[in-house]
Amino acid sequence: MTTIFQPAVSESTASTRVRTGGAVVRKAKLPDAVNIFDLVNSLSGDGTLLRRSYAEICENVRDFTVAESESGVFLGCGALHLYGPHLAEVRSIVVKPEAKGQGAGGRLLRSLLEEAEEQSVTAVCLFTRIPDFFFHFGFRVVDRTTLPDKIYKDCQTCPRLYACDEVAMVRGPLPKIAVLGPSRIAQPELVKLQTGTVAGK
Ligand SMILES: CC(C)(COP(=O)(O)OP(=O)(O)OC[C@H]1O[C@@H](n2cnc3c(N)ncnc32)[C@H](O)[C@@H]1OP(=O)(O)O)[C@@H](O)C(=O)NCCC(=O)NCCS
Repeated sequence: MTTIFQPAVSESTASTRVRTGGAVVRKAKLPDAVNIFDLVNSLSGDGTLLRRSYAEICENVRDFTVAESESGVFLGCGALHLYGPHLAEVRSIVVKPEAKGQGAGGRLLRSLLEEAEEQSVTAVCLFTRIPDFFFHFGFRVVDRTTLPDKIYKDCQTCPRLYACDEVAMVRGPLPKIAVLGPSRIAQPELVKLQTGTVAGK
């Protein structure tokens, strides 16, 4: 568990600001799934975040990190989805409206980036409408076709496929391999995936 602020906690009603003083970030547990589901889907209607079913959140709860006050009030969440050593994606990063602007979102993102580093992932990507927030953390805007894994995972089934208003961003070197679907990266630039050799073959 990582302490992100030391000042005293001051919780208040949802209509006023909640101080994230003393808040912590930690890996999510299954009982967090309901809070994650409610918060993520509160911003899925306008396309700010991808809609997640409760079942999907439970299944992938180990991807999630949550921020909460020292007294255990849920403040926000974010997830790191692993495609492989070449790429991970920050997904569903969100802080409750009343807790915004007090560092919780940044702490969540840093924690996810640390997790990517611990997993020896070389590049972290995301799609967003607020690139300015992610510039703070070393992301840069890239052409979305450089991220075939992301396109294959989400974009092809997205109703906004041909009207997407998000920008693709990456932190780290662009992946040279793809593990999902047909790659759009030019063949000569692709590095062959190491496949396990079967004894005797
Ligand atoms: C984006 C979001 C998670 C940021 O959380 P937050 O707790 O308000 O952010 P922080 O207080 O940790 O801010 C960290 C830094 O980013 C900056 N920042 C925060 N929101 C920003 C934004 N929308 N645009 C540009 N910079 C932003 C802050 O000024 C701060 O900069 P500083 O370190 O120089 O002071 C939050 O605004 C949110 O939940 N937004 C709605 C969901 C969303 O759009 N998620 C992204 C989907 S890809």
